[in-house]
Amino acid sequence: MTAETIYELTVEAPPGDLIAYDPIRLASALRIEDPSRLAIETDGMNHALVTIYPSDPLADVELPDPTELAMDDQGRIWVGRYHNGRPARMRLYDPRAGSAQRGLLFGTTGAGKSTGLQVILAAEKRSGIVTFLSDLKGGQSVPEARDNVDWFVTTPEGAMAQLRTVWLIMQARQVRYAAAGRSKFLMNRPDPLLNLRIDEANRLLEKGAPFRDEATYYIKDIGRTGRSLGIGVHLSAQAGHLEELGGSDTLRGMLKDGEVILLRWTSTMMRQLVSDGLLAAGQSLAPIPKYAGAIKLISQFEEAADEDAPGTQGSGYLLSGHSPTSRFRFFNVGSTEPVEGLDPEMLALYGDGPVAQLEKESLDDAGDAYAGRLDGPEAYAAIFPMEEEDEDGEGGGGGGRKSGGGKKRAAHPGPAMPEPAKPRTRTLAERVQAVLEDSDDDMDAAAILEAVNADGGRQVRLGSVRNTLTALKNN
Ligand SMILES: Nc1ncnc2c1ncn2[C@@H]1O[C@H](COP(=O)(O)OP(=O)(O)O)[C@@H](O)[C@H]1O
Ligand SMILES: [Mg+2]
Repeated sequence: MTAETIYELTVEAPPGDLIAYDPIRLASALRIEDPSRLAIETDGMNHALVTIYPSDPLADVELPDPTELAMDDQGRIWVGRYHNGRPARMRLYDPRAGSAQRGLLFGTTGAGKSTGLQVILAAEKRSGIVTFLSDLKGGQSVPEARDNVDWFVTTPEGAMAQLRTVWLIMQARQVRYAAAGRSKFLMNRPDPLLNLRIDEANRLLEKGAPFRDEATYYIKDIGRTGRSLGIGVHLSAQAGHLEELGGSDTLRGMLKDGEVILLRWTSTMMRQLVSDGLLAAGQSLAPIPKYAGAIKLISQFEEAADEDAPGTQGSGYLLSGHSPTSRFRFFNVGSTEPVEGLDPEMLALYGDGPVAQLEKESLDDAGDAYAGRLDGPEAYAAIFPMEEEDEDGEGGGGGGRKSGGGKKRAAHPGPAMPEPAKPRTRTLAERVQAVLEDSDDDMDAAAILEAVNADGGRQVRLGSVRNTLTALKNN
């Protein structure tokens, strides 16, 4: 065996048998001390491909040029490489189905979720995708994203505001697309792809988190309905238990046909994924050790080298790709040494191009939280419907929401809520319909606009009313 040689073995079990393996046992049997030199892929049945490298093939995965991050014509972005040097791509848009994607990025602490997310965010920026991002570690996880996404928040209230805003945009697009007789989403014709991303989603969705129920409701609904409207929802999380992510029910749909990346995991995490049927039991993935390289036993009588072994952060599996059992690694990005303040290398990934923004047609529906790119309680209050505390006020005067005499407070779901709270505001279509039903006379669009804007709900523009009327007519 020369130092440069790569060996590839094809393994076939008798028909009817399934190949199962333990990568460490196999490495030991092959007398390979460093398991990262070994790559094993299976077809989930009786075939396997075993590759033996002279050294860890993923030790250094360089991004050739940040412009390469832009989406290709099949809606995929290039995020890293497989062990065999092939590009690892991730789908954000399916031009054939006309749909956005939903996604999950899983891994234990330090596995490389947030850094991988920055690669994806930079790709989104360079592809003209509109990104709403919640960094629930108070903005510490992906600080360079702040000015490189359309709307950046760092609080659970901000995350809720983004969820509800996206949900309202979804309704608006639905009305417009129905009016145009469209059943699919065509990227940038005319609307941009809109992705909502939550880093550390477990902080929003774990048991006892104040918005768990509502957040779960929105994520599910956006995940289900958003795709054909060009709206994707993507979560990054460290989750030992899917219960920590709003229950396995929320995630099953997302995992089934979403874009799923699994970075270094813990054994409880893996057990859970398998027992929940999210990973096939037979689909064995070689575990990712924390450090690459052979483990050397050093006798207490010998001098020990005082060097850290290279880490494996950013390595994992693209479970939804064409090679789910093939180890890949995100591009190695950012400065090698920690820097004060924002990392210039990371900023260079995003480039100084423009950040795509939401289409004008949906601005009315997106509302004030988006307009001001608000965060915290302010964002929450701006987008969630107010509840009247007493019932004596009559709606009608002034702009804004319900304007009766009663005190207003934002509807705030407490942790003890038995049911997920359904969003309470009516859609524009419902409001228009209510106006039409109340009136005996024929109304023109301007009259309808006036009546709708006087119903105590959010102020809308004539264009939105016209679109809604067209859609209602076509139904
Ligand atoms: N793709 C990558 N390129 C370069 N460094 C990385 C990469 N992924 C992870 N790292 C390193 O590992 C550390 C932990 O990664 P991070 O993305 O914060 O993990 P997580 O979000 O899963 O906890 C980072 O601070 C960085 O130094
Ligand atoms: Mg992180």
